[in-house]
Amino acid sequence: MYLRNSWYVAAISSEVVADLTALRILEENIVLYRTEAGEPVALEDSCPHRRLPLSKGRLLNDNIECGYHGLQFNPTGQCVAVPTQDRIPPSAIVRSYPLVDRWGLLWIWMGDDELADDSLIINIENYDNPDWKITTGDALTCGCNYQYLTDNLLDPSHVAWVHRTSFAAAGTENVPLEITQTDNGLVVHRWIYDNKPPPFYAPLVQFDGNCDRLQYYEAQYPSTAINKSIFFPAGKGGPDSQADELTYMMISYNFMTPVDADNTRYHWLQHRNTDPKNEEVTLTISSGAKAAFLEDRDVLEAVHRGIANEATRHLDLGLDAASLHFRRNLQKMIDQEK
Ligand code: FES
Ligand SMILES: [Fe+2]
Repeated sequence: MYLRNSWYVAAISSEVVADLTALRILEENIVLYRTEAGEPVALEDSCPHRRLPLSKGRLLNDNIECGYHGLQFNPTGQCVAVPTQDRIPPSAIVRSYPLVDRWGLLWIWMGDDELADDSLIINIENYDNPDWKITTGDALTCGCNYQYLTDNLLDPSHVAWVHRTSFAAAGTENVPLEITQTDNGLVVHRWIYDNKPPPFYAPLVQFDGNCDRLQYYEAQYPSTAINKSIFFPAGKGGPDSQADELTYMMISYNFMTPVDADNTRYHWLQHRNTDPKNEEVTLTISSGAKAAFLEDRDVLEAVHRGIANEATRHLDLGLDAASLHFRRNLQKMIDQEK
């Protein structure tokens, strides 16, 4: 059900402090904390003795002390003290997970430690470019399978109905979608010419009047989605257009971390090429994104329940082509990993 050899977002970096944070990722219980030097640590959240979650214990300097009989584990997961006896049994060890702090997020590797290569973490172009601004990011827990979120982020069609008052715009319902395969996923895109920008974007774009707009929805295996919304003044957009000072670009990075088959922790960041110092714009974007994702969550949790209780024949439409393709490829990767 999950691809294990992959980096997943475990948490927003600033949320993990010198305190024990319990998480569940790919059906494994994990405890996160920071050492006194600020290094983030991820350990299996289960004492090998009586299986009390270590997150119920406490931190003693950089080690966790189990809250039942005081076993102490260091940041590598090695037991370093057994207060009730002299000998430390060789099996007194908990799994430690590779963890990397990047893009304001903590990335955890859930597979084979030897394959944990941090160059595989997604690159966020222009992250250090002072003309661009990234929101600090936010997260939601969703009561649905992670693949429903990825399906949704490969599906520009839903915007017209789920986000009626914010991201929906005229002229999108019947513009065909093009699907392209990439090295690590799929892109669905379309150009929508000479229409009003959607209500959410109207105050943000840097020009008046109609726009030519690129909707670019990319998903990378197993569960990352990058949605680009690019606006040119009407007449300037199209496949060969070069961005100039009037081009408005908003890139939404979405990271789905499966908790289990029925729950997902969803993190996101928004990155834009304008008004880098305008806090009001940043807040508008953060709150607008969250409002939209709450609309998505409401639908996707109900979809999850609906599909779990499906009693009659299932229907696929043309708009599902990308997500079905993505799911098939991901399933092949999961099968190969096994
Ligand atoms: S359960 Fe952890 S020390 Fe006994
Ligand atoms: Fe949506």
